[in-house]
Amino acid sequence: MARRRQLYEGKAKILFEGPEPGTLVQYFKDDATAFNAQKRGTITGKGVLNNRISEYLMQRLGEIGIPTHFIRRLNMREQLVREVEIIPLEVVVRNVAAGSLATRLGIQEGTRLPRSIIEYYYKNDQLQDPMVSEEHITAFGWASTHDLDDIVQLSLRVNDFLSGLFLGVGITLVDFKLEFGRLWENDEMRIVLADEISPDNCRLWDVKTGEKMDKDRFRRDLGKVEEGYQEVARRLGILPEAGIRDLKGPEVMQ
Ligand SMILES: Nc1ncnc2c1ncn2[C@@H]1O[C@H](COP(=O)(O)OP(=O)(O)OP(=O)(O)O)[C@@H](O)[C@H]1O
Ligand SMILES: [Mg+2]
Repeated sequence: MARRRQLYEGKAKILFEGPEPGTLVQYFKDDATAFNAQKRGTITGKGVLNNRISEYLMQRLGEIGIPTHFIRRLNMREQLVREVEIIPLEVVVRNVAAGSLATRLGIQEGTRLPRSIIEYYYKNDQLQDPMVSEEHITAFGWASTHDLDDIVQLSLRVNDFLSGLFLGVGITLVDFKLEFGRLWENDEMRIVLADEISPDNCRLWDVKTGEKMDKDRFRRDLGKVEEGYQEVARRLGILPEAGIRDLKGPEVMQ
């Protein structure tokens, strides 16, 4: 394959120029960071698993009419996506108290919330992604009220669908982070789901035992981090028994 231009290297992924205008290649690394990159490490095989898990979840969401940036997986670590103008927000949806919500509000981790809650964080590493309200978002022009209406609707649909999908394989979807972007087609703008959905940005607990199968294993030094990610893929039916080496490449994709 011809050498591609690297556009951006983030903490978990690298973005390359795609083969056609308006496309990008997302390369999934094994690097892991937590607590605004104060903690760094490597989770062997994470990139391969997240590439596959995010592909699977974005495809399932696409099938129920959620617009996403995903086009197709290219190989074990790369996927082709539509280039969007990222809205500088991390949209967090919570079903069960955990992490910063549990700490800030003094709610016992694991408490089911009275209803699903959406939070916004301003994507700015220097400021450590501060929590913001709809007022900040619209006043500073990061998104309009109309954009936010779309974002809330899409986030709740994603939450309903993924909660059911994970429950079906014995996993509680505790919370997760989404990113959205603007996609222009002719003169029309659509808000689409971008970035990734993987155990890096979801909290996934075993329904029966409460065992964590997500990045909290890394954040909290619980051990068996790769195993947690693998278990998610295995339950979703996308990890062959033989392990990640058997994940199919582009030439054998359906
Ligand atoms: N379809 C897309 N078009 C353009 N940018 C995208 C798209 N999908 C994801 N991105 C951006 O690509 C980057 C992915 O890299 P990575 O997740 O490693 O970033 P990061 O280190 O978490 O940094 P950031 O704070 O910017 O998310 C993110 O900045 C994300 O917002
Ligand atoms: Mg990121």
